[in-house]
Amino acid sequence: MILHRDDDAPALAARVGMPDGAALLDALPMPVVLVGAGHRIRYVNSAAEPFFGVSSPHLVQMRLTDILAGDHPVFLLVEQVRRDGVTIAEHELTLEGPRLRRAGITVQGTLVTEEPDSVLLTFHDSSAARTLDRQLTFRSAARSVSGMAAILAHEVKNPLSGIRGAAQLLESSVGETDRELAVLIRDEADRIRDLVERMEMFSDKPIERRPVNIHRVLERVRLLAQQGFAANIRIVEEYDPSLPPVWGNRDQLVQVLLNLVKNAAEAIASEGEGTITLGTSYRHGVRLAVPGMEQRVELPLVVSVRDTGPGIPDSIRPHLFEPFLTTKAGGSGLGLALAGKIIGDHGGVIEIDSQPGRTEVLLHLPVVAEGKDTT
Ligand SMILES: Nc1ncnc2c1ncn2[C@@H]1O[C@H](COP(=O)(O)OP(=O)(O)OP(=O)(O)O)[C@@H](O)[C@H]1O
Ligand SMILES: [Mg+2]
Repeated sequence: MILHRDDDAPALAARVGMPDGAALLDALPMPVVLVGAGHRIRYVNSAAEPFFGVSSPHLVQMRLTDILAGDHPVFLLVEQVRRDGVTIAEHELTLEGPRLRRAGITVQGTLVTEEPDSVLLTFHDSSAARTLDRQLTFRSAARSVSGMAAILAHEVKNPLSGIRGAAQLLESSVGETDRELAVLIRDEADRIRDLVERMEMFSDKPIERRPVNIHRVLERVRLLAQQGFAANIRIVEEYDPSLPPVWGNRDQLVQVLLNLVKNAAEAIASEGEGTITLGTSYRHGVRLAVPGMEQRVELPLVVSVRDTGPGIPDSIRPHLFEPFLTTKAGGSGLGLALAGKIIGDHGGVIEIDSQPGRTEVLLHLPVVAEGKDTT
């Protein structure tokens, strides 16, 4: 393998009729780092720059110990690879150092025989794969809920409106103490009705889609949030104004983003104060493999909701998109399940990146070809 930028790699590559090794490694989306004796970094590919947050010229003057604490499991892995001469992968590592904090990373080390003492490390962020995994499990969970939702709507809503009406009648005809009880019955009946209505959204009705201006959706969500549950929370907007329209259903997208902003507001409320950042961006050429679809789909439009709250507890992460999962006293655990269902119906993907002090939910959405009217 040819790894050096400065050796005679291009000449050798030309002889064997291949692009130069560095160019090949630069084309890889995952970071690659060649570590030599004394943990010296001898080569990095271009994906390493954004990953470590340090430019390549700087990285190749550093040692791995400048990036990661000396007792990090990666050093053990490097030693083991050198000693045993085999390829070793370690999963679910957290990389933490002065400029770095990433969780759920798989690091693979391979011995480079042509380069004495050198170990080639590749870093894979497995969280994206896990998100897709969860979306898949979520889909089957949603399907069972959609059947249940239909039954609930049918069997519960009618008697419920009877109960509510009766309680309202009682309110006007009973004494003060009993009136409180009648109001309680009415309020609780309303709560059940709201729950049933949210469950109904899981039904398998096909969605009506048209071109939607995502910034109008976000504007509406911001207004609703600031008039209600996020009245005292700072909301920052980081938008790319030149985005094409999303191919989607406006009301459903409002619903999804309201759920996400509400989660962000609740996370911040639990800390006392903080900021919600709403963002949009366009990622050229990113194609994702979506479970259930044969072809990779292009989902270039990204909407993000970020908060400075405490982060999502590790214990619930694998179950985030399951209905009824909640850690909140008054929560129904339907917010993310519904968001997953709706974004899935749109052919999109939800990605969640969470750590203490920073949780970001990213919606990857399909866009419409230019030239259509937007709602
Ligand atoms: N931004 C966030 N920060 C921290 N934890 C979060 C965040 N978003 C979601 N969670 C966690 O995920 C759980 C599920 O969220 P979800 O929105 O599905 O339900 P909920 O907020 O508990 O209830 P509901 O949305 O139905 O009112 C939450 O209870 C919370 O523990
Ligand atoms: Mg919620």
